[in-house]
Amino acid sequence: MNGFRNSDVVSIRDLSKERIGQVLNLSEKMIPYARGEKSTKVLEGRILANLFFEPSTRTRLSFESAMARLGGMVLEVSHPAATSVVKGETLADTVRMVESYADVIVLRHPHEGAARLAAHFSSKPVINAGDGAGQHPTQTILDLFTIRREKGKIEGMNVVMVGDLKYGRTAHSLAEALALFGAELTFVAPTNLQMPRETVKEVERLGHKPKLASKLEEVISRADVLYVTRIQRERFPDPSEYLKVAGSYRIDNGLLREAKKDLIVMHPLPRVDEIAPEVDNTSHAKYFQQAFNGVPVRMALLLLVLGAEADEGF
Ligand code: NCD
Repeated sequence: MNGFRNSDVVSIRDLSKERIGQVLNLSEKMIPYARGEKSTKVLEGRILANLFFEPSTRTRLSFESAMARLGGMVLEVSHPAATSVVKGETLADTVRMVESYADVIVLRHPHEGAARLAAHFSSKPVINAGDGAGQHPTQTILDLFTIRREKGKIEGMNVVMVGDLKYGRTAHSLAEALALFGAELTFVAPTNLQMPRETVKEVERLGHKPKLASKLEEVISRADVLYVTRIQRERFPDPSEYLKVAGSYRIDNGLLREAKKDLIVMHPLPRVDEIAPEVDNTSHAKYFQQAFNGVPVRMALLLLVLGAEADEGF
């Protein structure tokens, strides 16, 4: 039974371990389609509306690619300045209108809680593609998929998350999901950018005690996965606070000499200067593979939400 059909994907907390597992398994089957080695028209006649009120490259394009690979169509708003939003239209009104043009809505918005609000006003499924410093559940599923493919499992993995854990929405949803899947967590950040209390509490509720550290050098040697994030400059209320922490950590080959041979380095991208380009050519670097994984994972999610996963017997 597909428990996903017509449901919203707003927060990773909306999904049980079984449901996430269902997406991961279907994503695996989507790989040859995502690569263009097999083709299908299973979503022919279906329309996705991509509403992006904040910049995006990977998330927007991979949803678009996913829908196209399944034979569906995409409507998109990527320049909010060209829409009625500038005339003062509320998100609730925009969503009530867009739901009559499309079968599923993907929303990225600068305000935390925007996707929840949109889901409230839409009778069509709403997928959160990032709400301010809140959550980014589809990124989390592709992150889990990447770890599972690269390491063979998630449970018991020692995952070190580093960077802007305060404002980084990918870090919030991933930390909760990793706890659900039984990974060991270490959070490395300057004190004022540490993981929000609310996320730590959720991790603890799931039976884990994350370690907190401020120096990567202290924890790198035990890591199986290093998840690097960008300092979210756009979320700092005070630019001088950003300047104090900008460039405060950088992953380079010198640091990786201390790491396990099979450590994988991940990053949701875009990177600024957190990972030196020299790392790209090492076997640790998995961030471009991770970006590709966004396509099969979003294909799987769209099939499930639109209730079409059984149509071709995937
Ligand atoms: C992230 C985001 O938008 O939260 N990007 C992404 O979706 N891959 C990370 C970031 O902007 O730093």
